[in-house]
Amino acid sequence: MTIPLSTEIGFDPFASAYLDDPYPSYPELREKPPFYEPGVDMWVVARFADVDAVFRDPVRFSAAIAQDPLTPLSAEARTILSDGFRPAKVMSNADPPEHGRIRAHTIRAFSARRMALLEPVIRARAAALIDAFGSSPDVDIVRALTFPLPAITIFTMIGFPDDDLEQLKAWCGDRLAMTWGRPAAADQVRVAQQMVGYWKYCEAFVERRAVEPADDFTSDLLRTAGEDGTLTHREIASIIYGLSFAGHETTTNLIANTLRRVLETDGLWAALRADPALIPNVVEEALRHDTSVVSWRRIAREASDVGGVRVPAGAKLLLLLASANHDPARFPDPERFDPHRANARAHIAFGMGIHYCLGAALARLQVAIVLELLAARFPHLHVRDGQRYAFAPNISFRGPNALWLALGGA
Ligand code: HEM
Repeated sequence: MTIPLSTEIGFDPFASAYLDDPYPSYPELREKPPFYEPGVDMWVVARFADVDAVFRDPVRFSAAIAQDPLTPLSAEARTILSDGFRPAKVMSNADPPEHGRIRAHTIRAFSARRMALLEPVIRARAAALIDAFGSSPDVDIVRALTFPLPAITIFTMIGFPDDDLEQLKAWCGDRLAMTWGRPAAADQVRVAQQMVGYWKYCEAFVERRAVEPADDFTSDLLRTAGEDGTLTHREIASIIYGLSFAGHETTTNLIANTLRRVLETDGLWAALRADPALIPNVVEEALRHDTSVVSWRRIAREASDVGGVRVPAGAKLLLLLASANHDPARFPDPERFDPHRANARAHIAFGMGIHYCLGAALARLQVAIVLELLAARFPHLHVRDGQRYAFAPNISFRGPNALWLALGGA
């Protein structure tokens, strides 16, 4: 058994080449057993089998750090947060037994009934956004469609008013930087102030729904949790705070990544138009090939084996989901985007085990609807030549900031 004390290969998830395209780094990372990377103070886990094993073992590997700021915050930023920012640990950063209690309540919000209610909303809003392209020869599909659509979906589900969309999206951008990015000390103060505003908004919204219930997820939670009194208002506000981020940042990126890969694969757009039944497997292959959540975190409760390496108690693990999804031990010819891949669904993009993504069905539904509607409307849709893609600097959430598509032509 080896105990590497430092990395020999040097791994910087903020290097611009890695942010632009992390996939060329992964084969070398997968050749190594898990190793400690001092630059991020984490053990890097790159192979499918090892990532999978960690996810499946919530007893030894706690989720407690999943939402912690990656970059230690300045004293000034921490002082701002200490005054009013108080989300409880719920779901993604909670461990059993709290995790199970909260998830059991939340899962009801993803009921078949609420999904069925949402589907026509998603279709109508997507169609309206597409209509708004007008007669432009090309669009930045992120700005025009993939950015607003998932936000509208999740905010409609939660019950947030449409008018607050821009503000909520701005808060989520700051949250991304604070939790998974490397904000400079000067920026941390502004971000911390924004987070207090975002959290207070969630708290106030729950209090409003407590007195004025409506037909939405928040009112459902208040009702069911109120019946047996097992969720506090603070926990409900924390759930909303969690979902209002997880529900769109991920899906915005996935839709853009999917469109990019599909349109870059020769003949696939025409094939998909001819046979929309291909769409579900294409969505799975996009989740495998170009997932929007490229890494996730765990912390070892006790000294443990990870991929044959002994990590100490308290070791923080950076699980490279994108690398796991390209592990040739799991997926033959992994760099190829193969819409017919037989085991595309065996990816680990939505995690595994007790924390398996609650929104997986909703994410899949939105990507499928977008592909279906665009394929029906734009037979010659293609990626505009000569683009250089830019990505928000962070360790986990990946999708292009802009994706220019030409709507017509040959
Ligand atoms: C492409 C879209 C998405 C991806 C790639 C994704 C990915 C993930 C991953 C990797 C996890 C596992 C975290 C862990 O093990 O701790 C997770 C958990 C979760 N996701 Fe997603 N997600 C997506 C969309 C969504 C959507 C649309 C929602 C909500 C509407 C959502 C809500 C959640 C929640 C609540 C959890 C935590 C569940 C728990 O800890 O029990 N996700 N997601």
